[in-house]
Amino acid sequence: MIVPTNKLFEHAYGKYAVGAYNINNAEQVMGLFRGNVQSKAPFIIQISKGARSYTDKHLLEAMIRAADEIFPEAVFAVHLDHGDEATCMDCIASGFYTSVMIDASHESFEQNVAITKRVVDAAHPKGISVEAELGQLGGVEEHVKVDEKDAKLTDPKDAERFVKLTGCDSLACAIGTSHGAFKFSGSQGLHFEVIEEIQRRLPKFPLVMHGSSSVPQDEVQRINAAGGKMKGAKGVDEAQISRASKMGVTKVNIDTDGRLVWCRVHREAFRDNPENFDLRPPGKIFMAEYAKYIEHKNVVLGSAGQLDAVRAFLNG
Ligand code: G3H
Ligand code: 13P
Ligand code: ZN
Repeated sequence: MIVPTNKLFEHAYGKYAVGAYNINNAEQVMGLFRGNVQSKAPFIIQISKGARSYTDKHLLEAMIRAADEIFPEAVFAVHLDHGDEATCMDCIASGFYTSVMIDASHESFEQNVAITKRVVDAAHPKGISVEAELGQLGGVEEHVKVDEKDAKLTDPKDAERFVKLTGCDSLACAIGTSHGAFKFSGSQGLHFEVIEEIQRRLPKFPLVMHGSSSVPQDEVQRINAAGGKMKGAKGVDEAQISRASKMGVTKVNIDTDGRLVWCRVHREAFRDNPENFDLRPPGKIFMAEYAKYIEHKNVVLGSAGQLDAVRAFLNG
């Protein structure tokens, strides 16, 4: 069942975080739905600009509608990840997405406000909520690369002003994470003092943590042992993710970890079965392994086991 993104946030806020998982193909969709249904967790399925053009945006939409029928127990929202203004408007017009992210964080504060406000004005009359971004994460996003030294943590005072000026429904904040598999060179981690101060200024306002993959070290080792080159890959500590999930970080974005599962499964499958040329055997393993990963992650986020409570909340 597709439900409004902001309803999921209302239920989760301060108690747990909703996992927002990126998808690109059918195997990811199947693994994702299985993992969430098996762990009884509400979730957000998110689609980036790159994902929309990888095969075709209509194909993704059709796969999600089909998965909704295959898994009638699933409760989820559909979100555009890292949209520009034109893509946000396209998703709003499509009527399929329950929320969009407008990412104008690389613009000046004033420009970011103006662009975000235009998207909010188009989205709200249709009941679609808007995630905006303030501050700059390190790492690579599709349309912008930010060096670690140029990454800027979100200023809590600006965050308060930004939310009031734009009317956005959730805010992606730079709190120490970055996109991709190489997040930290040492023992750096989340800036809880920034999360606390933003929450103090914006009580009950859902925050979004991008770059939340934990880059499991056993996964990295297995990838390297099967021919990969991912030396030094490092992600966010899961204990820190759990702590943030109870502090108003209500949406936790994960893409890289899913790619690592895919990479490990396929590298090992072709290493161990060099005579195989069929896509289905590794595909089947991937769907099962990705579902297992999602189940585990939902326990970390606290969303596992929330499905009955969410349904009661939505009906009440
Ligand atoms: O934050 C970006 C997400 O990981 C999506 O990545 O733009 O390569 O699909 P993508
Ligand atoms: P990761 O690269 O840590 O998985 O972050 C994904 C993300 O933020 C998607 O918007
Ligand atoms: Zn992101």
